[in-house]
Amino acid sequence: MLKRLVSKMSNVLETRILKVDPASIHFGEDAHLNGSLPTIADPVSEKNLLEAAKIIRGNSEPVAFPTETVYGLGGSSLSDEAVKSIYRAKNRPSDNPLITHVSSIDQLNRKIYQEKLSSPFQNIPKPYHSLITKLWPGPLTILLPVPPAERSALSKLTTADQPTFAVRIPSNPIARALIALSDTPIAAPSANASTRPSPTMASHVYHDLNGRIPLILDGGPCKVGVESTVVDGLSKPPLLLRPGGFTYEEILELGGQDWKDCKVERRKVVAEGEQVKTPGMKYKHYSPSAKVILLVPKPQKTDSDRIEELKRLISRELQNEDTNTVKKLAILTSLHLGTAEIQDLTLGDSKIKPILVKLGNTGEEIQANLFAALRQVDEIDNVDIIFVEGINEDREGLAIMNRLRKAAGDHCVSF
Ligand code: TXA
Ligand code: MG
Repeated sequence: MLKRLVSKMSNVLETRILKVDPASIHFGEDAHLNGSLPTIADPVSEKNLLEAAKIIRGNSEPVAFPTETVYGLGGSSLSDEAVKSIYRAKNRPSDNPLITHVSSIDQLNRKIYQEKLSSPFQNIPKPYHSLITKLWPGPLTILLPVPPAERSALSKLTTADQPTFAVRIPSNPIARALIALSDTPIAAPSANASTRPSPTMASHVYHDLNGRIPLILDGGPCKVGVESTVVDGLSKPPLLLRPGGFTYEEILELGGQDWKDCKVERRKVVAEGEQVKTPGMKYKHYSPSAKVILLVPKPQKTDSDRIEELKRLISRELQNEDTNTVKKLAILTSLHLGTAEIQDLTLGDSKIKPILVKLGNTGEEIQANLFAALRQVDEIDNVDIIFVEGINEDREGLAIMNRLRKAAGDHCVSF
């Protein structure tokens, strides 16, 4: 009672973590089209989902929930108040628009366009039809034209003045159930504090947002581990704006004729005040507190060349004036550095023993472990410098290197 009073007085929320078992939720095969509700076998999971759905319908505080990509921080896309509460909780710049998550095409039509249509795909431009038929529910976000205000209930604050809005149907059963049970399209950025690495576990959300949100639904670790792929099929040629859970190669292969000339948006810098298609790219992102040094592999090098180069880079950091207080180092390894040699890495007469974390042996594994590993060495082990071994920029490598380049900023070295 006293605790509640104190938290009310100081305007700090008590953040509760409620577990939901994703395996207890079952959707019919066409639920993502017709909007039919799931069955939930576990009563505790159902109760917790209904509690989160009630907060979403209340429109005043956001709720964190798992998706297949990363945890999201959700509020109604139809309410200015709810959308403001999301921006506030994670301290996000208000000109970076949010993705709206729907549980079905039926919900998109009923709730965003406020119409019941004869053909469910009527509001979706043709270039997207093949892609969403194959990839929804899943980590694919598409841009649609913002409907005229008189025909739409979408809060303008979700779009940050873009002529388009972003939408996806997630495949994680907890995310889908929350959206379906609240019968509310949910605007949800990743549930990290702005600039930090995205959260792939409930504990990451708690670390960043404890006291700022009322509830986190804990559904275990996210399977994909990087955010959804954002595509723009309205421009010619179509663009891949953010590499993510589905690869560029999959978009080309599954999108059909319309996507065969799809280009990857590669610009990194934006002029002051410039209106851009991917406002997210303007901001510092995925940054741990520690300095991140990205090791970009050169194809012609051998693994022992790379270890020697890494030793040189570490000594340089240890001698560096600015970092002469360095006490702890971490090395996140992927495909080349995972050998026995690195286990015995000695750094001259230095007593420093780096913390070694293997990210994985495949693109999918590295992707799934990336943010959790960055957070582990940064937030739990409190290292000062993180060396991360990059991979080739194809398939999952494109999304992984996109995140790592942002985390490292200017500190990218080839090795
Ligand atoms: O996997 C995901 O997409 C996760 C989960 C929670 O679904 N969400 C997520 O949201 O990553 P957020 O806000 O962290 O990233 C959304 C990205 C940003 O880079 C934003 O700029 C871009 O999508 N975006 C949103 N609306 C857009 C629009 N209308 N035009 C261009 N880019 C847009
Ligand atoms: Mg984000």
